[in-house]
Amino acid sequence: MIKPREEEQIEHLKEQLSKASYAYYVLDSPIMEDAVYDQLYRKLQTLELKYPDLVTPDSPTQRIGEQPAQRFTSIEHHIPLYSLENAFNFQEFKQWETRWQKISPTVNDYSYVCELKIDGSALALTYINGILVRGVTRGDGVKGEDITQNVRTINSIPLKLAWTNPPNRLEVRGEAFLPIDEFTRINLERDEKFANPRNAAAGSLRQLDPRIVAKRRLSFFAYTFHLDQEDNEQPFTQWESLDLLEKIGFLVNPHRYLANSAEEVELYYQKWDIQRKTLGYMTDGVVVKINNLKLQRELGFTQKFPRWAIALKYSAEESPTRVKAITVNVGRTGAVTPMALMEPVQLAGTIVQKATLHNQDRIKELDIRVGDTVVVRKAGEIIPEVVRVLTELRPEGSSPYTMPSYCPQCGTLLVKAQDEAVLRCLNSSCQAILKGSLVHWASRDALDIAGLGDKVVELLLKNDLVKSIADLYELNIKQVADLDRMGQKSAIKLINAIDQSKQQPWHRLLYGLGIRYVGNVNAKLLTSIYTNSEDLLKATAEDLEQIHGIGLQIAHSVAQWFRIPSNIMLINLLKEKGLTLEATPRTHSENLYLSGKTFVITGTLSHLTREEVKVLIEEKGGKVGNSISIKTNYLIAGEKAGSKLDKAKQLNIQVLNETEFRNLIEKT
Ligand code: IVH
Repeated sequence: MIKPREEEQIEHLKEQLSKASYAYYVLDSPIMEDAVYDQLYRKLQTLELKYPDLVTPDSPTQRIGEQPAQRFTSIEHHIPLYSLENAFNFQEFKQWETRWQKISPTVNDYSYVCELKIDGSALALTYINGILVRGVTRGDGVKGEDITQNVRTINSIPLKLAWTNPPNRLEVRGEAFLPIDEFTRINLERDEKFANPRNAAAGSLRQLDPRIVAKRRLSFFAYTFHLDQEDNEQPFTQWESLDLLEKIGFLVNPHRYLANSAEEVELYYQKWDIQRKTLGYMTDGVVVKINNLKLQRELGFTQKFPRWAIALKYSAEESPTRVKAITVNVGRTGAVTPMALMEPVQLAGTIVQKATLHNQDRIKELDIRVGDTVVVRKAGEIIPEVVRVLTELRPEGSSPYTMPSYCPQCGTLLVKAQDEAVLRCLNSSCQAILKGSLVHWASRDALDIAGLGDKVVELLLKNDLVKSIADLYELNIKQVADLDRMGQKSAIKLINAIDQSKQQPWHRLLYGLGIRYVGNVNAKLLTSIYTNSEDLLKATAEDLEQIHGIGLQIAHSVAQWFRIPSNIMLINLLKEKGLTLEATPRTHSENLYLSGKTFVITGTLSHLTREEVKVLIEEKGGKVGNSISIKTNYLIAGEKAGSKLDKAKQLNIQVLNETEFRNLIEKT
């Protein structure tokens, strides 16, 4: 029975948390200590777990979905998302002004709204009765991708509008972006670097796993909206539209400006060319929009652009320089990134002598050669890149650059995955990869070796104490105690932790090997079918692809990894050291008859907790999903089952009560 008091409590918590989050992410003026927020959040979570039917989509606990998407669906935009005509200097802006004034000569309102052009990724958000129901990328302007799960993780996007009588349908548009410091942080952790914050924002939004998106602190500036019907509160000007967006809970860029003449636009444009360098996010220009919405409607659109707005762009800082050499860098996952080493050149206030060439496709596209004069660009504080090659200045006798076929560090043949542009070294003993692999091996979800972090790994490598993961299991207390700033006590702890890790289950070990695309979920899935390393070693990509939930990409990556002799050697060594390379006999002998079956749980169960049900299902190879779809095989419905039960019936999905579920599980 739901107590009204608890229902009220849930409502109150939701409200408190939403207000706090709004104050923090939109107003940038926190009203609550982090610890208090966390406590209230956990309280809400506990109550919602107890009363799942009271969970609403606008609850702060519902920002981060748990299920990675398989892929995104393409969705046609209600109204297309147009792009903007560019002007590269003020003169071109004046020409645009003359053009629109010729079309509407009788106008006497010359006010323009100047907005910073945020360099991110455009989004269209749909609110039905004030609740966020959908977020779609711009795509080609006509069709975009449904990335609702990811959009919900952006804290400055309200899940519920602050609008007492919201319209039935409202579409808000704006720019999702990554602050520069966040972009830098993400890139530090990545092997395959994002070229700039725009790519990083777009790449993050297209991440299939919303939990990863949530970790990247994306933000969103709203700049326009569309209502289906005329509304009393409908504004007359763009300026008022922005105010309204702010009023209903959106983050609207604070540097907007109402200009009353072209001259004022010019001053704003010049001012921000200097000041934009101090903003924490990238802008590549100023968007100038005619303020009067009636006039906007009158002017309408060309094939591609609105006639009532223009982007007055800033030029990125570019400069020519000469390529001295082209080298490659091998990162943690073995990704091989080509780099141009150039004569030092001053760009955007810093001296640049290295530029990323991204991958071999880009090299081919540029046809960049050693000795070439190239134009490099550095937009803001971002990694410089080569924009184009001045072939007319090419010295005689140069030849196209070809990427190495073998790893420059260890000599292993480099591999190119099917739909990737990067080459990779798959040899887990390669020095360049080793450090990253060791840190990953010791990480929480892998072998969970306390005390074996970045610093200690570096020390071990520097002192030549380890050359592969297997060497960790050869270390003794004295060797570790002799390391800089280690001492006897921490050495004993570390050696114990390493020894303990031998007991970790096979799926953690497989995850710890750091095979591309094998995250801990896939590792569990693979080890539930391939219960020992010998079987997995023999499996071909075709075999692996047969597993429900394992795609082509993962299958190939795993099969390829197990074909590398040094990897096979590593597996054998680990076995010798006594690590667990097979599932415990119980699971081993078990019949995984629920493999490929997806369950959804709803309502309150009387004997089992949801967690227990989940474990029981997963032990037999089944999966538990969050929402009912045509892919769902069974709905386990407890008491007070709500909308999920209705939906399951609609879709003809088999519904089990608790007893029926137990019968199903106990059959062998
Ligand atoms: S207005 C029809 N305002 O720039 C009006 N766009 O090249 C379309 N952008 O795809 C857009 N900041 O993603 C507008 N304040 C702003 C903007 C902005 C960034 C982006 C937007 C659009 C692109 C146009």
